[in-house]
Amino acid sequence: MKSYTIALLRGDGIGPEIVDSAVRVLEAVGEKFAIQFSFKPYLIGGAAIDACGEPLPKATVEGCLAADSVLLGAVGGPKWDNLPGHLRPEKALLGIRSAMGLFTNLRPAKLYPALKGECPLRADIVENGFDIMIVRELTGGIYFGERGYREGKYGEEAYDTEAYSRFEIERIARVAFETARKRSKRLTSIDKANVLETSRLWRKVVHEIAQEYPDIEVCDMLVDNAAMQLVRNPSQFDVIVTSNMFGDILSDEASQITGSIGMLPSASLNEGKRGLYEPIHGSAPDIAGQGKANPIATVLSAGMMLLYAFGETEASEAIVSAVDKVLEAGYRTADLAHGAPALSTTEMTDMIIKML
Ligand code: IPM
Ligand code: MN
Repeated sequence: MKSYTIALLRGDGIGPEIVDSAVRVLEAVGEKFAIQFSFKPYLIGGAAIDACGEPLPKATVEGCLAADSVLLGAVGGPKWDNLPGHLRPEKALLGIRSAMGLFTNLRPAKLYPALKGECPLRADIVENGFDIMIVRELTGGIYFGERGYREGKYGEEAYDTEAYSRFEIERIARVAFETARKRSKRLTSIDKANVLETSRLWRKVVHEIAQEYPDIEVCDMLVDNAAMQLVRNPSQFDVIVTSNMFGDILSDEASQITGSIGMLPSASLNEGKRGLYEPIHGSAPDIAGQGKANPIATVLSAGMMLLYAFGETEASEAIVSAVDKVLEAGYRTADLAHGAPALSTTEMTDMIIKML
């Protein structure tokens, strides 16, 4: 029997609830497809700060590096909001991405036919649906640049800097071109080349790499325009490649037009493709512990893990199709129920398992 070790980073807020849902789904799928999982929990974020005074303990990093793959819930919450930057829960997320070398973040955003009515866009705009794959650079740019405080023209000022090397742009561009090759062969590279030097290098390098992929149709788009086009005509996009911060912002925007941010999974990959899998949403402290969270984004993240980390195509498809069936049958958690009676996190999980 195949067997995989998965490090679990439950984190804060709704993190523990949704990770436990995904674990139950993985166990059910494992039974069906004869795959054994062993789960090893590690502390991260606020939970780690409370237990050992730091957001990313060494044991967590070592556990993640030793495991076959990593499943993460979410980190952060008001309790830790006033800590200095380097001690904040979010720092742990950046730390683990960096420690594992996860430079690629795949964030698929598609409109489920069953959720068409949840999309805030006019019906004629989403008539043909949309299915976008955002390839976000994850270990560079302004998230990891030099930052600090200094005396400026108007006294105290803070600064963050964005830097991208040719190497970093080349490797994420190649991932994006390869991804486009497996889909509709269309790639949009999003930048702010009319203002930023990093974007000008980004654009130049993407064009160079494009020479290696003559079968892919690539176009550039400025990020402000892209933000507009995403709500004006989302079906024009297939694969998007962009920097760390633009990808962060655009993927949240994309999630809203799918109906709920509670639906979007993500895969963070390094060269080895074992990676870390997490929903794109945050820890939602306002609904934590109430059983209201939508577990689908995390369950689908586990589905991405089966596919990308383990090559378990059938098991991965089983999860995706179970989620489809649950939505088609009209089951909804509170984020999608508009005040109508909704399923709890556990009930939604039970329903997905039933449909497997
Ligand atoms: C995300 C989150 C993180 C990010 C935060 C929590 C550091 O918003 O995964 O999108 O900005 O990358
Ligand atoms: Mn984000």
